[in-house]
Amino acid sequence: MRKPFIAGNWKMYKTVAQALELVAGLKQTLGDVLTMELAVCPPATALAAVSGALAGSNIGVGAQNMYWKDEGAFTGESSPVMVKELAQYVILGHSERRQFFGETDETVNLKLKAALAHGITPIVCIGESLEQNKAGETVSFVGGQMRGAFAGIPAEDAAKVVLAYEPIWAIGTGLTATPEDANRIIKEAIRDVLTAFYDTATAEAIRVQYGGSVKPDNMADFIVMPEIDGALVGGASLKVDSFTAIVKNALAALK
Ligand code: 13P
Repeated sequence: MRKPFIAGNWKMYKTVAQALELVAGLKQTLGDVLTMELAVCPPATALAAVSGALAGSNIGVGAQNMYWKDEGAFTGESSPVMVKELAQYVILGHSERRQFFGETDETVNLKLKAALAHGITPIVCIGESLEQNKAGETVSFVGGQMRGAFAGIPAEDAAKVVLAYEPIWAIGTGLTATPEDANRIIKEAIRDVLTAFYDTATAEAIRVQYGGSVKPDNMADFIVMPEIDGALVGGASLKVDSFTAIVKNALAALK
């Protein structure tokens, strides 16, 4: 059984003070949730404070990016060694990083290997653009992102990866894939590719989140889908009430 996993990607929001206020609230509302894995991914500047505030709690901490080298002259970057001090997870290959900061399947692959080597759980984001979706290229494109990300990674490491299927056109737009479409794409572009790359057991072990305009009122529809194991939540993770409602609605739907 794959343990459901909901994570909040705060993107470039929250000062340290705002971050601490948010996690203090989440500890109150979600501190007793044990049947679902939970994490928040603050900006790098708030990572240390949030990590301290959540130490010993049931809510994990993730970084939003990292470089693949352990140290060196790489101005502005954070290394896996540094991330590991503050976080258990790292988001890799988010579409915003691919779009605005030159992330490619090759750099995602290097970062993925570095995260696994350092015992950080990677949350690897994949997903198609609106044009690709309309052209019927979703499965081939997402499948290609998958093959690029997992190149050279052995099965025992691959099983530790979390994937987030985030159609780019659904991010921050209020639009979502239908739960049925998301479920089908995860099956055809993610699990079938993993089965071909590795084996059924590995493909079935890997958790796949849906991301893209997840809100309290649509979470249940996604989480009940057999291939969907949770969510990567952007905007609705920035408030105690909405992130709490997303988690509670998912828990209720799984009962
Ligand atoms: P929204 O939930 O704001 O659409 O963002 C999704 C996302 O990009 C999470 O990584």
